[in-house]
Amino acid sequence: MITKLATKDLAPGMRVVNLDLPWLANPFLYARDGVLASQEDIDRIILEGFLEVYVDTETPASGDVEEEIEEVIPHQKVEETFQDRLPPKVRLSEELPAARTLFDGSVRFARSLMLGLSKDKPIPVEEGARIVDDIFNSITRNCNALLGLVKLRRRDEYTYTHCINVCVLASLLSVQLGHKPSVTRKVGLAGLFHDIGKTHIPDAILNKSGPLSNEEFMVMKLHPELGLRHVQEQGLPPEVMSGISDHHEKLNGKGYPRGLKGDEISETARIITIVDIYDALTSRRVYKDPMLPHQALCLMYSMRGEELDERLLSHFIRTQGIYPVGSVVELSSGWRGVVTQICPEKPLAPQVTLVRSPLGRLKTGEVINLAEQSQVKITRVMTPGEAGVDPSLAIPGANSSTVQSYVSA
Ligand SMILES: [Fe+2]
Repeated sequence: MITKLATKDLAPGMRVVNLDLPWLANPFLYARDGVLASQEDIDRIILEGFLEVYVDTETPASGDVEEEIEEVIPHQKVEETFQDRLPPKVRLSEELPAARTLFDGSVRFARSLMLGLSKDKPIPVEEGARIVDDIFNSITRNCNALLGLVKLRRRDEYTYTHCINVCVLASLLSVQLGHKPSVTRKVGLAGLFHDIGKTHIPDAILNKSGPLSNEEFMVMKLHPELGLRHVQEQGLPPEVMSGISDHHEKLNGKGYPRGLKGDEISETARIITIVDIYDALTSRRVYKDPMLPHQALCLMYSMRGEELDERLLSHFIRTQGIYPVGSVVELSSGWRGVVTQICPEKPLAPQVTLVRSPLGRLKTGEVINLAEQSQVKITRVMTPGEAGVDPSLAIPGANSSTVQSYVSA
């Protein structure tokens, strides 16, 4: 599990990880991958002025995953008043074809949006609003369909799928927060357009397969303001504008571009920040493997209060479930399967579609609801490649190239 430590709390033998994420880069974060061989290494890091570091503790052994999560995110700490506002109205299999068409159309929209913006064309707000409405309608019918597709993204289309994923996840969180549809629409639009400023960042920086230099990071940090400048004359609601300009701000004032603090950051921007970070952490990029969802949520939980809004984060954890739709898991019975529906009231007990028996036999279709099976629990979360499980057997809306990239993850 990856956790943030003060450099003064480091000990020999700990493994430092470089998360390679621009929003994490700051002058006080030590981010050179590797095991700390001795106290001398640690003294040198402290002497160089680094204050914080991310370390990866050992991967939990089989059977420990629930304990590990409970230790980091105690149940009682997650918003007690959470109420599931999105119970499925139609079956997953019914919603998947429409969700697939919508997701593919949205990615096509994102591609033409980015192309147009790079040629200084105005944002097609109306078309974006229609996509946001379609996404809203799909998640209110059965949110698990789009959530599954978000998880099964194509690896080569991050730039385009990221803004769709952020739009879907932000809309979902907004509904679960009890917002009116008119508010959710603005949150969704903010998610869709939050990174438009990146179209003005050189490709060499945007797609660099390694950590950014200080100079490159300074350029990257311009994208919220560039995005805001691009839409200034288009009459977008202030909530959408703040999602574009402030989605890299942190509650403690250590974000960018303005170093806003606490209430100076709008709720919409705080929502976009949370889902943006989650999608970035759980995505495969040329320079990093995806983090497993429960590890990303544990890491983000360690940022609550300081960097991320605790109430919104608690709702997000409930909304996603500790094991989001599309997660490949192993059960205490030895079966492996794919999470196909979460239970917000019991985030550790989702619905799992069984895919592989303890003897390795493939099986499809049988669903087990862990919320009703107290004797069976999740013991491991795995990558599809590690588990030898093709998630499309449980979520058949994904096309073969999508699945291929996911299985090889
Ligand atoms: Fe951004």
